[in-house]
Amino acid sequence: MTETSNQLMQRLAANTRVGYSFEQEFYTSESVFKADFEHVIGRKWIVAGHVSRVQNKGDYFLFRIGSEQIIVIRENEASVRAFFNVCRHRGSTICSAESGNAPRLVCPYHAWTFGLDGRLLAARLMPDDFDKAANGLFACHVRVFHGLIFINLSVDEPDDFDATFGDMGPILDYQGIADARIAHAGSYPTDANWKLVVENFFECYHCVPSHPEFCSMHAAESIIAVGAGPSSGPAEAIASFTPKLKAWEERAARQGRPIGNIDETPDSSHLRLLMQRMNKEGWASETQDGTAPAPLMGKRKAADGGRMHLSFSPFTQIVADDHFAILFQFTPRSALRSDVEMIWLVDGRAGADQVDIPKMIWGYHATTMQDKVITEDNQAGIMSSRYRPGRYSDQEGSVIKFQKWYLNQFGLARAE
Ligand code: FES
Repeated sequence: MTETSNQLMQRLAANTRVGYSFEQEFYTSESVFKADFEHVIGRKWIVAGHVSRVQNKGDYFLFRIGSEQIIVIRENEASVRAFFNVCRHRGSTICSAESGNAPRLVCPYHAWTFGLDGRLLAARLMPDDFDKAANGLFACHVRVFHGLIFINLSVDEPDDFDATFGDMGPILDYQGIADARIAHAGSYPTDANWKLVVENFFECYHCVPSHPEFCSMHAAESIIAVGAGPSSGPAEAIASFTPKLKAWEERAARQGRPIGNIDETPDSSHLRLLMQRMNKEGWASETQDGTAPAPLMGKRKAADGGRMHLSFSPFTQIVADDHFAILFQFTPRSALRSDVEMIWLVDGRAGADQVDIPKMIWGYHATTMQDKVITEDNQAGIMSSRYRPGRYSDQEGSVIKFQKWYLNQFGLARAE
């Protein structure tokens, strides 16, 4: 008898032990990926890009997630729309370029023509009883928030956006994300399951052996104590780090930084995180020599030597210094493939001659190239018949938390 999707997930969850990595099929099975799409990926608000990519009416870009293609397009000054790239005639894709400008969306196959609001405007030689009004493009939920274009593929009503993300507004405002400009973008397609990409990003146990550039930009105690999340380090290390952190928070707050942390539990919908930390002593910015590669960002009047890590969900993260912000997009494409995109944002007022791009990208470009390799190696090893779930260290608490959140999305729990 064939195992149903529910039975498959229940069996895998029942075999997952707290403190151990997932069962092999969680990382390899197309059936699990299909379930992931239905229960997790397709239900979350995910950042598709920065609004500066669609500045003018008709500007568009394609956002690919799983086997879906979403056309993100500016309808007018006040409105950005998102549509599934599927013609309502016989299903051809409509846009084939990755980005461009289109006054109307014209299907290349038989020339059905859609407006920027998705309505079908023209369809040649159709029968008299054809209802144009019922054949508009399928819309995707979309919301622009502080310059970030979020999409949500849900067929049903998605999580209320403002209730989910409203409290992140002040820090995005302070960082000036809405008025930022893209200084650089990089693609790091990774042959690995999305859960491996996320787990790698959520722990810093691997930082010392794998990331010399990253470690050179951060104090050793910070790497051990905070890693990629407040709950990812050993308790003693966090305790000894806390007084220094508090002193920095007080200084930064006096300069205007909205100090606040978000560390959602696995019962939450999006597993959001906001963590703010001081940089390594003497380091103004996360660069090779610690000097700033660009002017101050956003509302700052002076540098406070801090950074933030903001996670909207496991699929979208921002890491931001006083002088630049990096948007990380982890987009699942198939069971064994994920897109990893990085966008470096600088203050919108910063001129090209004020931004030293090689200096700005030095640390995180190298780190993400290394992450691609180690994550692909992780996937290759997991494909072996000899893979067995392994024990997590004291520095991988955030991965354990992610596992619990992931299973919660299916109403499942690990074996205790
Ligand atoms: Fe688009 Fe025919 S499939 S017009």
